[in-house]
Amino acid sequence: MTKQPTPEPNSKSDLVGRLDTWLDTRTGIDSILHESLDEPIHGGASWAYVFGSGLLFLFMSQVITGVFLALYYVPSADHAHTVVSYIVKVVSSGSFIRSIHAYGSSGIIILLCLHIGQTVLYGSYKGRRELLWLSGCILMALMLGMAFTGYLLPWDEKAYFATAVGTNLIAEVPLIGPILQKLVRGGDQMGTLTISRFFVLHVFVLPGMLIAFIAGHIFFFRKAGAAGPIKEDPVTPRLPSVPFYPRQVLMDAAFAVVLIGILAIIAKTIPMDLGPAANPADTHFLPRPEWYYRPAFQWLKYLSGRWSLVGGIMLPALLALIFAAAPFLDRRLERRPWKRPISVGAFLLFLIAYTSLGIASYRDDYSDPVMAAQMHTQDADAHAFMAKPFVPESSAGSVSTNLISASPAVVKGHALFQSQSCNSCHGEGGVGTAAAGPLTGVALKYTEAQLNAILHAPDSKMIAGGMQSVDLKPEDLKALTAYLRQLH
Ligand code: HEC
Repeated sequence: MTKQPTPEPNSKSDLVGRLDTWLDTRTGIDSILHESLDEPIHGGASWAYVFGSGLLFLFMSQVITGVFLALYYVPSADHAHTVVSYIVKVVSSGSFIRSIHAYGSSGIIILLCLHIGQTVLYGSYKGRRELLWLSGCILMALMLGMAFTGYLLPWDEKAYFATAVGTNLIAEVPLIGPILQKLVRGGDQMGTLTISRFFVLHVFVLPGMLIAFIAGHIFFFRKAGAAGPIKEDPVTPRLPSVPFYPRQVLMDAAFAVVLIGILAIIAKTIPMDLGPAANPADTHFLPRPEWYYRPAFQWLKYLSGRWSLVGGIMLPALLALIFAAAPFLDRRLERRPWKRPISVGAFLLFLIAYTSLGIASYRDDYSDPVMAAQMHTQDADAHAFMAKPFVPESSAGSVSTNLISASPAVVKGHALFQSQSCNSCHGEGGVGTAAAGPLTGVALKYTEAQLNAILHAPDSKMIAGGMQSVDLKPEDLKALTAYLRQLH
């Protein structure tokens, strides 16, 4: 006997209802929606709770804008800066998307501070929420890692030198420091391997981990339930609850709209600068990290020798450990901030110290006239670079081979031009050398057939100059002439 499939429950008769039944019997969507939207919020919806969902929203915005940037990006020291300037100067809305992505990272850091500040002040980490807190700590570390790895990718002066400072610090780690630094950089110096390592971390490893920990964080949040207002008991809530939908959902959505609005306005009015390409030989450049790393940067300036190990590695590690252990150390269920002077006081003290360090860093830069002048020059250089039109690859001087947007045949032709050593006499990009004249403009001089003919049977002048007849497969010859004909 064959088993008959159970008939579809036929409770709803209209089309939407039937579709819903069809989907629900296969996915359980109704109960999933019920679970996620009817989550009880004790004490009701509040604007104080929008930061977490705001972070999730900004993360998604980073993923989407990041995918667009990755469509163009090439993780190599030779091309990274050129492709980013291509994105900024040629691609339509490229500068806008890049600015949303770059300012988005600052937005995430600001929201992280607000989210953590709210959690600490409200004591929302209390009452069986240790794993929720720990997964949040890991998320914060991953976000800081995203900011650090992403900063290098444009490979302009400030990216290069700031990352050089950051990776120099790694060498201070006791025992394994130098090995660790080499591992991060992919060698002793920063170069293509550093970019490709940072790229892999920024695009695959860290986002993958972020998604996993975001899922965990939301899971733990749902399991423990929203902690509610400060007068609420975090373990057995007593306040009357209202469902997550619609009020809190609307507040979260409104906040998301405000966020993307602010980002779009900033990205439009102050597009993120791209400076001139990294020049490791530049000894004048003053490296400065993004604003949120400024306090740490300033802190390191005060330390030297033995103290850089204690102050630069051990103290931050200890603080991070205490911070992560907060729900284990502070076990009372009391949530009102004024009744918790130690935890709230320590947090505020840290905030004040961190902010003061950041302010001191900016003040130092602008109070010393020599330093201020150099900072001003760096900004001016970046503005000047932004104002210049896009130049495809700088190595060929003024002659462009524009290989970024070239057809596959031209790219192949370029490779043949190199492998057949045409460049040894005619120069890189066919600009000409003492041995042979330039090839720029052959398209005006010869038709494709004529070009093929002289390559096949060079004239006496070419033979006298040592050029041999080109003997290639027809499609390779075609690619080579395609490359020659677009030189100008
Ligand atoms: C040993 C040096 C040498 C090498 C290698 C060489 N060429 Fe030449 N090539 C010459 C000289 C010399 C001439 C003729 C005079 C001039 O243009 O300076 C010439 C002329 C040409 C011309 C005609 C230019 C004109 O304006 O009339 C073309 C096209 C050309 N070469 C293409 C190539 C290609 C493609 C290759 C690689 C497969 C190549 N050459 C490799 C030396 C060389």
